[in-house]
Amino acid sequence: MRRKLYLNGEWVSAKHYTELRSPYTNGILAEVPLADKSEVDFAIQSADQARPIMAKMPAHQRAAILDRLSALLEQKAEEAARLIALEAAKPISAARGEIARTIQTFKFAAEEARRIYGETIPLDAAPGGEGRLAYTVREPLGVIGAITPFNFPMNLVAHKLGPAIAAGNTIVLKPASQTPLSAFFLAELLDEAGLPAGALNVVSGKGSEIGQMIVTDERVKMVTFTGSPSVGKRIREQAGLKSVTLELGSNSAVIIDRAIDVDKVVDRCVVGAFSFQGQVCIALQRIYVHEDLYDSFVEKFVEAAQRLKFGDPLDPETALSALITKADVQRCMQWIEEAKAEGAQVACGGTAKGQGLMPTVLLQTSPTMKVSCQEAFAPIVLIDKVQSVEEAFDRVNDSRYGLQAGIYTNDIHLAMEAAEQLQVGAVLINDIPTFRVDQMPYGGVKESGMGREGIKYALEEMTELKLVIINRN
Ligand code: SIN
Repeated sequence: MRRKLYLNGEWVSAKHYTELRSPYTNGILAEVPLADKSEVDFAIQSADQARPIMAKMPAHQRAAILDRLSALLEQKAEEAARLIALEAAKPISAARGEIARTIQTFKFAAEEARRIYGETIPLDAAPGGEGRLAYTVREPLGVIGAITPFNFPMNLVAHKLGPAIAAGNTIVLKPASQTPLSAFFLAELLDEAGLPAGALNVVSGKGSEIGQMIVTDERVKMVTFTGSPSVGKRIREQAGLKSVTLELGSNSAVIIDRAIDVDKVVDRCVVGAFSFQGQVCIALQRIYVHEDLYDSFVEKFVEAAQRLKFGDPLDPETALSALITKADVQRCMQWIEEAKAEGAQVACGGTAKGQGLMPTVLLQTSPTMKVSCQEAFAPIVLIDKVQSVEEAFDRVNDSRYGLQAGIYTNDIHLAMEAAEQLQVGAVLINDIPTFRVDQMPYGGVKESGMGREGIKYALEEMTELKLVIINRN
């Protein structure tokens, strides 16, 4: 099927097309548009022209559109999940989970649209401020450029569209080139939910060209991006005075302290490492286990990893399917070979099957190996022995990244120490880092990005604070 661009509230044929193929079967799923400069320019112009309409729309109407959207998605949940499974090769059970979260995300956005509060400022706290009433309001920024990744093709789009619409902004969305169908699907539902023409424009195509146009165009007031640190840095450099939110990668870690019951945590760690083939920004990549438990943890972890079924993303039994590109499989194999050459031991996996990589557990790695210090974004996890939790803090912090980290411990003092010491956006006590619900603040430090998502927090980033002062003297 040939898809169209969504511009100014209409479905428009593009001048150029490419084939979209399934990562698992390599079969053609659709012909998708490659937007050119004039089409991207028209998208930005449409968003710019729709600005006053969205800015004037009352909160209850913005909330109603988002509520209708989540209700429509609920009706079409299975269709939406299958779309994710097909274009991203996400196992259908995980794809269904993503749709359930996307419905929630839009519901939270509808709720937040109704409570965009300001505050009164006591100006008379400073000499000379007497006799004045001051209050703040939050105004929409205008056109938001949203650039989204393949790994949560509905929910991470929702994390951009939901707060942008809740705040009264308009959007130009560039979805990942492997997963535009999910973005078009959401655009169809938003159209049906009554979003005014021009408030959302979807331009699929070459990331670097479209991205650069969005990031450098004067009419775009904010860029919200989820993707790799290298692209994130380039966006930051090119964005000038625009607001920028960057959700970038990580090599997330968990610490397992000495008195932990291994049987209680091992399955959860396996989920953290291998869900959606490890293609999650908070996937568990590094596990630091106290030496007292190390051997039994490794044995049970490897046993559980080997039970995971690789296969067709549409099969409900499938736990892992294809990686997003062949190049990712090759990259991972190179990293594994390099780690082996430098002394790492492969406890399981380390082999490719079609476009898939079998769940891979590495032991005896060193912190400078790519499998440790770079983001794998693949089903690769390393398990390392530590003599103390304090040593593990240093290992976790020895990273360019800082998104989320977890610690399992029964010692409240160590838990509080972890909360203080770990250099990340979120510390999870007695859980893995691979945890997110959609209203929580989400984002990282260091090369994991800047700014926060989570509807309330994203909404703050997508609005400008304005102060009003009334002089009663
Ligand atoms: C991400 O991979 O950036 C998002 C993870 C999530 O939403 O669970």
